[in-house]
Amino acid sequence: MADASLKARVQELHRQLNEANHRYYVLDAPAISDAEYDRLMQELRGLEADHPELLTGQSPTQRVGAAPVEAFGVVEHPVPLLSLGNVFSREDLEAWHRRVSNLLDGRPFDLVCELKMDGLAVALVYEDGVLTTGATRGDGVRGENITANIRTIRSIPLRLEGTVPRRMEVRGEVYLSRPGFAKINEERAQQGLPLYANPRNSAAGSLRQLDSRITASRPLDIFIYQLGWAEGEAALPATHWDRMAYLASVGFRTNPLNRHCPALADVWAFVEEWGAKRHDLPYETDGVVIKVNSLDYQGQLGTVGREPRWATAYKFPSVQATTKLLAIDVNVGRTGSLNPFAVLEPVQVAGVTIRHATLHNEEDIRRKDVRVGDTVIVQRAGEVIPEIVGPVLDLRPPGAEPYALPAACPECGTAVVRPSGEAMTYCPNKACPAQGLELLKHFVSRGALDIEGVGESLCAVLLSQGLVRDVADLYALTTEQLEALDRMGKKSAANVVAAVQGSRDRPLARLVFGLGVRHVGSENAELLVRHFGSLDALMAASEDELTAVAGIGPKVAASIIEYFEDQDNRRIIEKLRLAGLRMAEEAREERAMPLSGKEFVFTGRLERFTRMTAEAMVKELGATTGSNVTRKTSYAVVGEDAGSKAERAQQLKVPILTEQEFLDLMERVRAGEQPT
Ligand code: IVH
Repeated sequence: MADASLKARVQELHRQLNEANHRYYVLDAPAISDAEYDRLMQELRGLEADHPELLTGQSPTQRVGAAPVEAFGVVEHPVPLLSLGNVFSREDLEAWHRRVSNLLDGRPFDLVCELKMDGLAVALVYEDGVLTTGATRGDGVRGENITANIRTIRSIPLRLEGTVPRRMEVRGEVYLSRPGFAKINEERAQQGLPLYANPRNSAAGSLRQLDSRITASRPLDIFIYQLGWAEGEAALPATHWDRMAYLASVGFRTNPLNRHCPALADVWAFVEEWGAKRHDLPYETDGVVIKVNSLDYQGQLGTVGREPRWATAYKFPSVQATTKLLAIDVNVGRTGSLNPFAVLEPVQVAGVTIRHATLHNEEDIRRKDVRVGDTVIVQRAGEVIPEIVGPVLDLRPPGAEPYALPAACPECGTAVVRPSGEAMTYCPNKACPAQGLELLKHFVSRGALDIEGVGESLCAVLLSQGLVRDVADLYALTTEQLEALDRMGKKSAANVVAAVQGSRDRPLARLVFGLGVRHVGSENAELLVRHFGSLDALMAASEDELTAVAGIGPKVAASIIEYFEDQDNRRIIEKLRLAGLRMAEEAREERAMPLSGKEFVFTGRLERFTRMTAEAMVKELGATTGSNVTRKTSYAVVGEDAGSKAERAQQLKVPILTEQEFLDLMERVRAGEQPT
């Protein structure tokens, strides 16, 4: 027997799921992410499975969607619109397949894979080949009559071609393409209206307009994915795949990417292929629907509750979630830039707990209109740093104020400045302690001078103890000074000094990058050093000479000039010269470089290092790096969520390396092997 706390939990899950359903289906204004919804639903299903006495007819697990709004007429669905069970992994999928196979007594069966569209399900009735009714799914049994709106969707035929059953109903998903969504939001922005958070909301909002002229102005589209019912159905093809072909032949739009899969291995290949490429599609898809192809077998398998046993949905890992924006804090970067970031109520996105998200700059915050207290949609796309997509406007607490950056640097109190034409705001105080720390951290980082053993906390200690006032002071550190610090033994002190001294011979481009000149990243540093050959030549360069370097524009040139005009910066450079750092580069070709002439392109998220580090690794061995795969590319190194670049590499037959294969290659090259 279930105890009281379990009962209370079940009730709480009912409440949350009912509210989520209402917001999703009736108000088109969801307050929780799909992933969160799925999690709650799974928890409830689990509890009901373990404690059947807690399962009632009112449970949200027993129905689909919510009651239709009154404003539209009601349409009864003679054959209910079903929902789908979900699988989230290859193991889940295999378990589903095994279950089906058992239920079919081991008889072989083939499958169909379809992209799961993220839009709104509709049922369309045709009588004598003419569209008579269009309805939403509603609760699966009763939907809303949206015929007038449905008629405005250009890809829905009003009259069918060829011979068709006297009465029939087809089902499909109405959706909005990404460009269509962008267009609607642009118009809304112009009219000062709140923006839709994603294409699904926007499609649903568009389809459920009481004024069908508004629907007509929205570029909605449809993919048909099922024949609901038909008179004389027996005369129609006997498999789902052939029926879809038949529906296409009489005028319906079906997704050409759908695939007939003889075996489970083909299904998995489809899932993996579109899991990787889905972001390149012009519309959003949140998974793959896998269906048993034989309609006879579908009938034998039947349904449990509202979920057919003959189909399931493989859900792609969600990259979005909703959470509360608790505060907007500001970091001061090494160039003095004020970097606002979101402090969030911790939330899981694609398996990672997110607590912070970047907000880029003040403009970005204003454009998205995010305010402290808002419920916000966060997203983790490819890159490591999560982003805020936008607020859920309906959930804005009263009194939430638009955000403004502080007028003074949060670290040193100096009045901040925003140079004209720049999006970033800066603390102009070169002695700002935050800048000093960030600059020192940057100088010792792997992409720059790569000084092992000098991490963030040691940097902070060195600055606060006055042992280091600028980056050049690092080279004067002695083991005695370091040993005197807390938690620093003899051995580690000696290691730090050795690492610092060892960094003096790093390539000049690393030093130029390490100086932290605004707008001079590792790429630009590389370009500059290749062109000028020495720090002296770079310091003496005029604006014209700088902009003559391919890839260096006027903004970067102006920043370089400003940096070297500063007397303090010049003093630091002289100190570095006296400390014996490499100030010029011999012509590259003269050095034995095992990867000379090779170009690497890195794409996707790497597990063990950042892209910058990986690029530094290959450049150190004489290779160049590119941001696009071309015929000149020697290797494409592909991490997680690699998109179109990996595809392009495949097309161009450029060798593709996984992260591990890349590491193996580096190992072999370092050991003296010649790469092919
Ligand atoms: S088949 C068993 N096929 O997903 C029949 N549904 O979670 C269930 N959906 O209500 C529908 N693309 O709104 C099917 N190719 C597809 C689909 C699809 C999107 C939606 C549909 C359905 C929901 C079920």
